[in-house]
Amino acid sequence: MCGIVGYIGKQQAAPIVVAGLESLEYRGYDSAGIAEISDSSAFITKQAGRVSGLKDSVAKNTHTSHVAIGHTRWATHGSPTTANAHPHSNTDQTIMVVHNGIIENFQAIKTKLQAEGYTFVSQTDTEVIPHLIDYYYRASNDLTLAFRQALQDLQGAYGIAVVSTHEPNKILVARLSSPLVVGVGKGEYFLASDPSAVMDYTKEVIFLNDFDVATITADGCVVHNLKQEKSSKPVAELLDYDSQQASLGDFPHFMLKEIFEAPATIRSASLGRVKAAENIVKLGGLESVIAQLKYIDRIVIVACGTSYYAGLVGEYLLEEIAGIAVEVQLASEFKYRNEPFSRSTALLAISQSGETADTIAALKKVEDYGVLRIGIVNATGSTIARMTDAGVYCHAGPEQAVASTKAFIAQVTVLAQIALSLGSPSNKLFKPLLQELEDLPAKAQQVLDTAPSIKKIAEKYAHHRDFLFIGRGYSFPSALEGALKLKEVSYIHAEGYAAGEMKHGPLAMIDEHFPTFALATDSVLLDKTYSNIEEIKARKGPVVAVATVGNKAIAKLCDDVIYIPATLAQTQPLLEAIATQLFAYYIAVAKDLNVDRPRNLAKSVTVE
Ligand code: AGP
Repeated sequence: MCGIVGYIGKQQAAPIVVAGLESLEYRGYDSAGIAEISDSSAFITKQAGRVSGLKDSVAKNTHTSHVAIGHTRWATHGSPTTANAHPHSNTDQTIMVVHNGIIENFQAIKTKLQAEGYTFVSQTDTEVIPHLIDYYYRASNDLTLAFRQALQDLQGAYGIAVVSTHEPNKILVARLSSPLVVGVGKGEYFLASDPSAVMDYTKEVIFLNDFDVATITADGCVVHNLKQEKSSKPVAELLDYDSQQASLGDFPHFMLKEIFEAPATIRSASLGRVKAAENIVKLGGLESVIAQLKYIDRIVIVACGTSYYAGLVGEYLLEEIAGIAVEVQLASEFKYRNEPFSRSTALLAISQSGETADTIAALKKVEDYGVLRIGIVNATGSTIARMTDAGVYCHAGPEQAVASTKAFIAQVTVLAQIALSLGSPSNKLFKPLLQELEDLPAKAQQVLDTAPSIKKIAEKYAHHRDFLFIGRGYSFPSALEGALKLKEVSYIHAEGYAAGEMKHGPLAMIDEHFPTFALATDSVLLDKTYSNIEEIKARKGPVVAVATVGNKAIAKLCDDVIYIPATLAQTQPLLEAIATQLFAYYIAVAKDLNVDRPRNLAKSVTVE
């Protein structure tokens, strides 16, 4: 999940590369570094710690350079030290490399190179790459050929960028399972592992594909695909969001900004799609497969983390509105199962980044099954978006905080739209749900307006070490997602549970030190949730509830209540999520933690 940035052109390269690394820090932030080529000399600056430290070091450099590559790391092999930071180079520092991914056969290559007299200074898998290129370069004196030969030896996943004093006016790039885009400027080119790092300079980007090897100069980009053995001058695509969306604005953290974007997120996910007055949902991204969809009698949803919990909401929606059997599986488990798969089953991949390795692997697994593969993705042009036969973009704009918030809102909104588009207008829920999707942004704003009271409640519980989240029906996935949010930003052990399971074990944990967050919004199951709350209170367990505005009874039962507007059971998870996201956010802030960059995590998990 590392960040890669490169620049070649007329400007000073280092400031552009470092600024790009800062915008990618959410992808990984153990250590950072940059390699610059100046008058056929190489300058490598790298260190453990955040990009801000690298920025200070680079500012002291006196050389000028118009070619550079940089990297911000999430450690896979070797601890986050300066020696393990990228760029890595060959011994005489004529070849410098940054890499995202994992070289699975690095140990065998390292042993072979050591036998050839090469010495290594790091614990990383990456360091074999510059030495391997050097090994082949010594035989051919041709950097591009040496790079391609080295790539043939590598097994695993990679996004690689190379600069060299042998051929100082180019950046060589290769992609296999780890995203890389090339930004097209005027007399200058950019490289990044995520478009958000280049969108300040250009909206024209080239998305590299697996097995692509690109040669980038200040005047152009030529791509050669190793598998198809074909070279091409690729066509650039236009990015559909601007840097304003990716900036912090007046918010203290991206997570809070992105939570407060919920109303806009629901609107943009519904724009041009939800037409309540005409009683229709129009999903352009599915039009090309609408005929195939008619024969689908089962949908398997694959995703990870928050996207998986969105999928659980989607399961209820698709079964209730579209009458289609659904199974939701963790992508990391799906790829190892040997389940029967009929052609009337469709695979639905949900992913904010569109680069999650496990979800990509799940799609790859069914590549030869001949089944329909649909995506719900936020990052346009991402790997998953390009692997699926059709899909519906979330249009939530860049999500920078590691904790996914607005993407969940967008995903559930899109799942409701897909359920409606596959369902029949004669379904009694069709019109009410369609109308509710139009009314939802205003209701989301009402939840956001209660942020100050949620903050007060959160601060009261910030000292706890454990938390149970419970819900029933549509609120069960809300409980799971609420627990994940709290876990990943506050480091509190939180687990989500079906409320009906309390007596099957979890109740044993409850005492005055073990609070419960109960999703107790209006529904046909509310009385049963009341019983769970009473069982907890009888054991002195503190209870924070999310309830529907107007419910006075709940206040007598619980220690604290967060009220949200009345809505359909089917859209309950969207409003509940805003409450649980704010609750988690304010606890993390109360604990003075790095809310946008939680320890040990990264935004896009592009390695398995
Ligand atoms: C969510 O808050 C987490 N950051 C994480 O669980 C995330 O949802 C998961 O890694 C899946 O990412 P994706 O949606 O980009 O595939």
